[in-house]
Amino acid sequence: MKKKKSLFKKILLVLLAVFVVMQFFRIDKTNPAVVKSNDFIAVTAPPADVEKILRTACYDCHSNETVYPWYSNVAPVSWMLEHHVEEGREHLNFSEWGSFPLKKQNHKLHECAEEVEEGEMPINSYTWTHGDASLSAAQKKTLADWFEAQMKEEEAEGDTLSGQ
Ligand code: HEC
Repeated sequence: MKKKKSLFKKILLVLLAVFVVMQFFRIDKTNPAVVKSNDFIAVTAPPADVEKILRTACYDCHSNETVYPWYSNVAPVSWMLEHHVEEGREHLNFSEWGSFPLKKQNHKLHECAEEVEEGEMPINSYTWTHGDASLSAAQKKTLADWFEAQMKEEEAEGDTLSGQ
């Protein structure tokens, strides 16, 4: 009986040591600079309710304006978080919107509408910790419809441009 207990203690100590060592591997939380004129919200000027959803449900991973929560200081959660932000920006960085060619913007708007409609974005693990990013059916519709409308508007603009 006594032996068992000390083994348990040893295992706990090893786990604790591993956890402590993990904390030395910190993530880089510096946000790249934001050029306002390239920012998606600045360029597209969405209505206030859409802007609010974008900022609370998308911008932490898809822009250079990430707000890092306290647990971004705690490994291994911090590593997962860093990975999401890196990958999110890589796929779609709203802070660089203005530098995308029209065709790319159009394609991304379509994907955004789709991801939101299907409930794929924002990703689940994010909404567990960010309650206000968990979108209601009405919010999903507002956002997806706006993405669609924006896409059509840009398409029409593109047609006028190429028709000149
Ligand atoms: C917690 C981080 C996170 C949040 C919040 C988030 N995304 Fe994502 N998003 C990702 C990651 C990571 C990927 C790439 C992997 C994947 O597709 O699952 C991605 C992929 C995408 C893609 C696919 C882009 C492409 O070209 O492949 C779109 C579109 C997208 N997200 C839109 C959104 C929208 C719109 C919101 C807000 C409603 C949002 N995301 C919220 C992390 C996030």
